[in-house]
Amino acid sequence: MTENKKSATLNVHGETYELPIFSPTAGPDVIDIRKLYSNAGVFTYDPGFTSTASCDSTITYIDGDKGELLHRGYPIDQLASKSHFLEVCYLMLYGELPNASDLEEFETTITRHTMLHEQMQYFYRGFRRDAHPMAIMVGVVGAMSAFYHDSTDIHDPRQREIASHRLIAKMPTIAAWAYKYHTGQPFVYPRNDLDYASNFLRMCFSVPAEEYEVNPILSRAMDRIFTLHADHEQNASTSTVRLASSSGANPFACIAAGIACLWGPAHGGANQACLEMLEEIGSVDRIPEYIARAKDKDDPFRLMGFGHRVYKNFDPRATVMKQSADEVLDLLGIENNPKLQVAKELEREALEDPYFAEKKLFPNVDFYSGIILEAMGFPTSMFTPIFALSRTVGWVSQWKEMIADPQNKIGRPRQLYLGETERDYVDIEKR
Ligand code: SDX
Repeated sequence: MTENKKSATLNVHGETYELPIFSPTAGPDVIDIRKLYSNAGVFTYDPGFTSTASCDSTITYIDGDKGELLHRGYPIDQLASKSHFLEVCYLMLYGELPNASDLEEFETTITRHTMLHEQMQYFYRGFRRDAHPMAIMVGVVGAMSAFYHDSTDIHDPRQREIASHRLIAKMPTIAAWAYKYHTGQPFVYPRNDLDYASNFLRMCFSVPAEEYEVNPILSRAMDRIFTLHADHEQNASTSTVRLASSSGANPFACIAAGIACLWGPAHGGANQACLEMLEEIGSVDRIPEYIARAKDKDDPFRLMGFGHRVYKNFDPRATVMKQSADEVLDLLGIENNPKLQVAKELEREALEDPYFAEKKLFPNVDFYSGIILEAMGFPTSMFTPIFALSRTVGWVSQWKEMIADPQNKIGRPRQLYLGETERDYVDIEKR
């Protein structure tokens, strides 16, 4: 960032303060308030961080008004159509697209880290079979801290890199085994002769009783879904990973914290909630009833998969996902999918409704993804684990960037205190 000559003038309690303004390579200027409290004795107030930049970063840029999403400068629609997930992982981690030999070396490294320590199977067996796979992922990923001690020293760049590779490589195995445990079927080990997405599909859907051939249509669609969810600036789960990491906690514990945050229905849990909403609506003639409920201030119901803190025009990932939904269902010969029909009609009616237009509410990444995932054979409970699997590269890339930043310090926000001022203890006889 460059400090430009402009500054912000703040008048508070009769004093005037000049606050530096920094200009980014893209997006809004920022006002540097780091010395505000020490100089002026006041805090800023921004619950939900709607106007706060928590860090500087070079990984992902979002322009919410233009519906633009760039990873290291490359537009998401180009990466989704021309690249593939492990190449996007390399780009996120190292900042540039790899040449052929670097890509081959990276893919070989990731492939060779896909197996889990055999003892980790015992964690799964402690869960009930009907445990939500996200509960299992939080537990198993956190437990990686107990197995991979040789990649927990965050001050050693080589250990940071190994931890990043292990997390990206093992997440599909962890998620697939959570699904297998839920079904009562045996765990399927990864295979080094399969690409990342094909390996995941085979670990989820193959059984020892017969050969399993990965459908290239599904593998390509799966890989694209991974890419569309890879990173998204300082969203809630990434901010959770950064805050957890700021205390010096090991990377596995920090990523487990990110998984826990992603689970919420306002964030990564929205893909499961959206498909369940489409199932509940059931048919296009019930759409007006649900749109009315979404608009009713007294009704907590919201259109899941709609709206976004940053995007106020459209979510470019939703555009790609909608095209992919049409393509995958067509290639699979699934015609007249009722949920896709309801989704398209719901989008059309909502976008024509002034309420959604005024509040700038549009389909987000979660609106169409569940339709594809269901068509692939996944239960709704696996939708958010697949989001977590995909977002792991974003979390570890942002974690690496933060840990390597010499300005890195523990995150410790303040508050607007509205509680009682000091008062003396009252003995119980006098209460
Ligand atoms: C993800 O941050 C990221 O980048 C996240 C993500 C990523 O890749 O990491 O993009 C992934 O989390 C996508 C979002 C998935 N969540 C949903 O689809 C759940 C439904 N949407 C929301 O609950 C909501 O839109 C949020 C949480 C996504 C955004 O909430 P904001 O920005 O805090 O907006 P808000 O809650 O203040 O809503 C603004 C207004 C409110 O009305 P008023 O109080 O101004 O009258 O819009 C209304 C809200 O009631 N509103 C909705 C709505 N979303 C917002 N009304 C009906 N349906 C909705 N979905």
